[in-house]
Amino acid sequence: MSKSVRDYIRSIVDFPHEGIIFRDVTTLFADARGFRMAIDQLLTPYAGMRIDKVVGLEARGFIIGGAVAHQLSTGFVPIRKKGKLPGTVISEAYQLEYGEAVMEIHDDALAAGERVLIVDDLLATGGTAGAGITLCRRLGAEVVGCAFIIDLPELGGRRLLEAMDMPVHVLCEFEGA
Ligand code: PRP
Ligand code: MG
Repeated sequence: MSKSVRDYIRSIVDFPHEGIIFRDVTTLFADARGFRMAIDQLLTPYAGMRIDKVVGLEARGFIIGGAVAHQLSTGFVPIRKKGKLPGTVISEAYQLEYGEAVMEIHDDALAAGERVLIVDDLLATGGTAGAGITLCRRLGAEVVGCAFIIDLPELGGRRLLEAMDMPVHVLCEFEGA
């Protein structure tokens, strides 16, 4: 049987901490067939929809977002961790297991009414993507969907995003976060 996107993802036990299984997408990105399959499948639900910009979440979302934006012939906009973007930004904090983190977007990166697709490699608690949705909405953009290669369903990210009225698209799931 031919390989699925999930089959290209490597699992590394006890990284970055004991008890964590790290889902490593570098093995997917490194394979020409796997990478193309992932980008094509990320786009499937949006065929025929108007999308003006693709937004990628730092850092692995940049690799996917660049390829998706190229495929759709749209511009690409990065959402970065605090302090990395050079221009004027707006910021949004979200909860981590211990403490909080902050994501930022340039305040002129999206125009009011623009239709945006947000992409990232992995959906876990949904904190990162939730902050991304809020940043886009604060600029007046309409987020038409969030697309991820991997969902870790035990961590509840999909529920969090759907509670924000956000359609979620994932290519595969892994149990045992
Ligand atoms: C990982 C992953 C997602 C995020 C998902 O990124 O790439 O962006 O966590 O977790 P959440 O749904 O619980 O917010 P990480 O913060 O490790 O940074 P990186 O992509 O820069 O490596
Ligand atoms: Mg990330």
